[in-house]
Amino acid sequence: MATKIDTGIAAKDRAAVAQSLSKVLADTYAVYQKTHGYHWNVRGPNFSSLHALFMDQYTEQWQALDVIAERIRALGQFAPQSAAAFGNLTAVKDGDPEKDWEGMVSELKSDHETVVATLRDLIEVGEAAGDDVSVDLATQRLTVHEKHAWMLRATLGEK
Ligand SMILES: [Fe+2]
Repeated sequence: MATKIDTGIAAKDRAAVAQSLSKVLADTYAVYQKTHGYHWNVRGPNFSSLHALFMDQYTEQWQALDVIAERIRALGQFAPQSAAAFGNLTAVKDGDPEKDWEGMVSELKSDHETVVATLRDLIEVGEAAGDDVSVDLATQRLTVHEKHAWMLRATLGEK
């Protein structure tokens, strides 16, 4: 049965924004999973601070997943939920526990930049659809991912 949704955004625009949000969800899930894995597997003289930094970052991302998925539902679409669906939607590659700490930090920094690019696409799609709520959500997520990328750069001794 077709449900009528009358929130002032056309069905095709809601679908386009939801698709863009799904990519953000999948990227966020992939970076969450990798950050949590590196929290477990990181080694080296900075173990304690990296273990804690990764925990701060994956905890924030875990909470964000729910907000992003529920925005997709509010637009009248299903949120992707399977490993296969996420794998098809994200550009972020799986982590490698064998990497040394610098390799892990550097990879995560690049991954946050990937999420940032996906979020900028969402802002474009959201603005075209007149979906201020999704644009606002994307802006909040951009703030966080840019901050995480800075902290990882600083950990590497970079500006
Ligand atoms: Fe832990």
